[in-house]
Amino acid sequence: MRERISVSLGSRSYDIHVGPGLIVEAGALLAPLARGPVPVVTDSNVAPLYLQRFVDVLGAAGVEAKPIVLDAGEGTKSFRWLEMLVSELLATGVDRGGLIVALGGGVIGDLTGFAAGVLKRGIDIVQVPTTLLAQVDSSVGGKTAINTAEGKNLVGVFHQPRLVLADTDVLATLPERELLAGYAEVVKYGALGDADFFAWLEANAAKALACDAEALVHAVAHSCRMKADIVARDERESGVRALLNLGHTFGHALEAATGYSDRLLHGEGVALGTALAFRLSVKLGLCPGEDAERFTRHLRDVGLPAEITDITGKRPAPDVLLSHMAHDKKAKDGKLVFVLVRGIGQAFVSNDVEVAMVREVLG
Ligand code: NAD
Ligand code: GLY
Repeated sequence: MRERISVSLGSRSYDIHVGPGLIVEAGALLAPLARGPVPVVTDSNVAPLYLQRFVDVLGAAGVEAKPIVLDAGEGTKSFRWLEMLVSELLATGVDRGGLIVALGGGVIGDLTGFAAGVLKRGIDIVQVPTTLLAQVDSSVGGKTAINTAEGKNLVGVFHQPRLVLADTDVLATLPERELLAGYAEVVKYGALGDADFFAWLEANAAKALACDAEALVHAVAHSCRMKADIVARDERESGVRALLNLGHTFGHALEAATGYSDRLLHGEGVALGTALAFRLSVKLGLCPGEDAERFTRHLRDVGLPAEITDITGKRPAPDVLLSHMAHDKKAKDGKLVFVLVRGIGQAFVSNDVEVAMVREVLG
């Protein structure tokens, strides 16, 4: 029940390994890449669960791990934590020819990936993603970033990993809400480019979300395969990679309007944002209403938010959401840029969506 997916980027190509129990095999997979001590960056939730085991398996393969444990949470993706992490990494003695490991969710992966990308002008990194979101999205493709007061992910570099190890067993300890939030990114792949995968998810999501090993490996590996294919064609997002932002223009605005709080996790924003992108596409006469309804029904079936009213607390006002969208890094020449759909599995980018139509969907 192992899958190996290649991300083809010439001399920077790498493999993504997906399967249960991969952490136990990390020593053999990492040892050929390691020169000297290997900093292993993780967070305060993941450390008590997996750090010692990870350090031990590296040790058994003759690799000395140097653990660095950061606070869990989105707040860690900041300049302050970047500065602290860089100091700690330098203190380990890791050198240009060395290797750094990110063991954690998207927060640890994005921050550590950025640190690895800029430290000594670039040190190799292995991503060991421990959330579903990180396994199917953030650990693959080389986008790294921190947040600033102006917004999310505004400062970062592209820095591809040398290897990604997605051990599906570790997802069993994820809080259910985090697992579901990661599932939103899985269903996004079906919605943006693979109607058959979407149908498979309709039939098998319950099994995958109950951590059935076979269903989970298929869901993660298929998502990674789709992302690997897109990244190989468009590493720097000048074209097809933008499709991975399906649901994100709405999602980011909703996250901003709810204060990046636990009222709406990133993946929940993506789920709801994708449902809104379907509705906008229907309103623009581009997508059959049945496809939008089918997508929304699936979100409801698994327990993801599908309507703005599903967010707890005060409903974010349309004007507030529109102003966040105008500030979004995907806004160009005063027009709103959206990933829209012609149906399930048929996403495309539109650069000139009328604000009035968007307002109707938000109203
Ligand atoms: P996260 O890293 O905050 O992890 C979510 C929570 O789960 C945290 O509390 C974490 O400590 C905990 N956790 C992690 N693994 C666990 C495990 N196995 N068992 C128990 N608890 C565990 O959040 P995330 O959802 O993984 O990532 C979100 C971040 O990813 C955001 O900052 C987002 O911007 C970024 N992101 C980046 C990309 C990219 O391409 N680089 C893509 C999508 C999202
Ligand atoms: N998560 C979007 C991308 O990697 O491009």
